[in-house]
Amino acid sequence: MTIEILTVLPELLTSPFEHSMMKRAQEKGLLTIKLHTLRKWAINKHGQVDDYQYGGGAGMVMMCEPLANAIDELQAEGKFDEIIFMTPDGKKLEQKDANTLSLKNRILIICGHYKGIDQRIRDLYVTKEISIGDYVLSGGELAAAVLVDAIGRIIPGVLNDETSALTDSFQDNLLAPPVFSRPVDFRGLQVPPILLSGDPKKIEAWRQEQALERTKQRRPDILDQE
Ligand code: ADE
Repeated sequence: MTIEILTVLPELLTSPFEHSMMKRAQEKGLLTIKLHTLRKWAINKHGQVDDYQYGGGAGMVMMCEPLANAIDELQAEGKFDEIIFMTPDGKKLEQKDANTLSLKNRILIICGHYKGIDQRIRDLYVTKEISIGDYVLSGGELAAAVLVDAIGRIIPGVLNDETSALTDSFQDNLLAPPVFSRPVDFRGLQVPPILLSGDPKKIEAWRQEQALERTKQRRPDILDQE
């Protein structure tokens, strides 16, 4: 899978993909990440990609031409399966969105800045608008990093232990159960004896029950979701 990112701040997006799972996904050849600097398609030699908004008001808007020219040039090599705009007014990202996107071949993510991008780019090019939560970031880059991580880690073959993505929180509308490692006794708090029982059936049943309990307590809203 190839994920391309169009941004005015590519520097913000180098480190998040150079470690851990994203590094492994790229080394295994399962994920290619390409960062594109929007300034390459600036309208003048000053590198301008934004302008005042019509109607007045504070804040600049990312202009049509640099974005359209960039997308057209990138699509000359082949169409994107999705063109995603990261924006706080988009659809709130959920696990099932990441699951769906992880099966695509080639996607483009556009990072907004300032007051956002000209509406006509949204109308003409963007196929999905995604928010990572009800708060406003200074730009779409950190949101894009979150989206790429959520997608990249579940691309088939990225995880060594295939089952571990399946037991993540949210994969089956349940939060993950509590986990324990050594020592058995930490400051008087014990590992639940059932986890030491060596009985896989009982352990699985306990984990299911704990996951359900935790979800009822913390996120009853996700229990009955499709
Ligand atoms: N850009 C700024 N805030 C954002 C958010 N919450 N989600 C996605 N993109 C954003």
